[in-house]
Amino acid sequence: MSNAPVVNIDPSAFWDDPFPALAEMRATTPICFVPELNATLITRRDDIHTCEKNVAVFSSDQPGGLMNVLMGQNMMRKDGDDHRKERFVYYPAISPNKVKAWWASVFADLTNMVLDDLIDRGSADLVPTYATALSGEALKAITGLTNATFQEINDWSQAMIDGISNYVGAPEPEARCNAATAAIDAAIDERLPELEHTPDMSLLSVMLQSGMPLDQVRANIKLTISGGQNEPRDAIAGAIYALLTNPDQLELVLNGSVTWQQVFEEYCRWVAPICMSPRRIAQSHTFQGVTFEPEERVMFMFGSANHDEDYFTNPGSFDITRDVSPNLTFGAGPHVCAGAAASRSLVGDFALPLAFERLPDLQLDESAAPTRFGGWAFRGPLNVSVKWTS
Ligand code: HEM
Repeated sequence: MSNAPVVNIDPSAFWDDPFPALAEMRATTPICFVPELNATLITRRDDIHTCEKNVAVFSSDQPGGLMNVLMGQNMMRKDGDDHRKERFVYYPAISPNKVKAWWASVFADLTNMVLDDLIDRGSADLVPTYATALSGEALKAITGLTNATFQEINDWSQAMIDGISNYVGAPEPEARCNAATAAIDAAIDERLPELEHTPDMSLLSVMLQSGMPLDQVRANIKLTISGGQNEPRDAIAGAIYALLTNPDQLELVLNGSVTWQQVFEEYCRWVAPICMSPRRIAQSHTFQGVTFEPEERVMFMFGSANHDEDYFTNPGSFDITRDVSPNLTFGAGPHVCAGAAASRSLVGDFALPLAFERLPDLQLDESAAPTRFGGWAFRGPLNVSVKWTS
């Protein structure tokens, strides 16, 4: 265990709202060992930015880690050449150029398809309807698992997230995760002959055509579902909530003074959908006076970096006019998010502007259920009840 100062947390209060504890950590013990998480947390932006690039020490390769055991070793859990080889195949399928040339029009159609289904209702909880449906439909297209429903994609994603954060080893989340990965394998098997006959732009097809071994293809598809569903979903519903609770800022984007992309970026700075990412210490190392020991677990707190007072004034407030460029929403090292361009396009270019365009007089309907946020590793709104003129 590192010789970092020990800081205790109340796990349920941390789940409800991690930001007060993280602010205290940044101010007094920016690198601290938290027994309740059995990990050393790095909470300041510059420290994370530096350490994430030092893969010789802060390794993503976690043999025996829950993600490897339950989902197979994917590219996010590899370092060096092994990682680069797979990312070299995977990333071009959803690169900024490919998103512009291909996925943007797919996202436009899917957004309108989901809104067509919603528009006559007049009111809804955006999380299970608009946000989950659109994120799931986009992920079906991107992965190539068009034979699944958006609900299955969402349930598989949640089951894998619950499985890989099940540090206490409870049987139920593990069984649910195993059922989800088996269902994904079956969906992949069903698509194989179709994609062999008619390849397409999807990640599954692109990885198959590259000759990547099938078990690696399966692991990277599972990674994509576990890491590509909740985050856009939470950004869609969360950003709409943030604008509806800040009408002055809604006015700025509706009158074109600020872009929808800026809204997306500021929302993800304000509540990072992925607040934490783990690493394994590969060799003894001293950083900022803290000595880390081999095999111990370290957590990069991206959500805290995005509230670092050295970069963001009044970080707890949602402000679409601020400079968000120092944010670490998508990470900052060799594992920087491969889906960032797809997310910016889906959420910033389509999901947000079209929701306000096609749901007239959109407003919060808190009489239905007050909005609640939850989570410290993955964080987002649990519900966002709205109404509009239909
Ligand atoms: C708002 C949306 C999203 C956020 C905030 C987000 C955030 C992140 C972060 C923080 C990482 C780095 C993790 C680390 O360093 O350990 C990451 C990695 C990754 N993300 Fe995303 N993500 C989002 C959407 C997506 C989507 C839609 C996809 C796929 C279609 C995706 C695919 C990936 C992959 C494959 C990696 C691993 C990259 C590598 O290891 O080289 N993400 N994401």
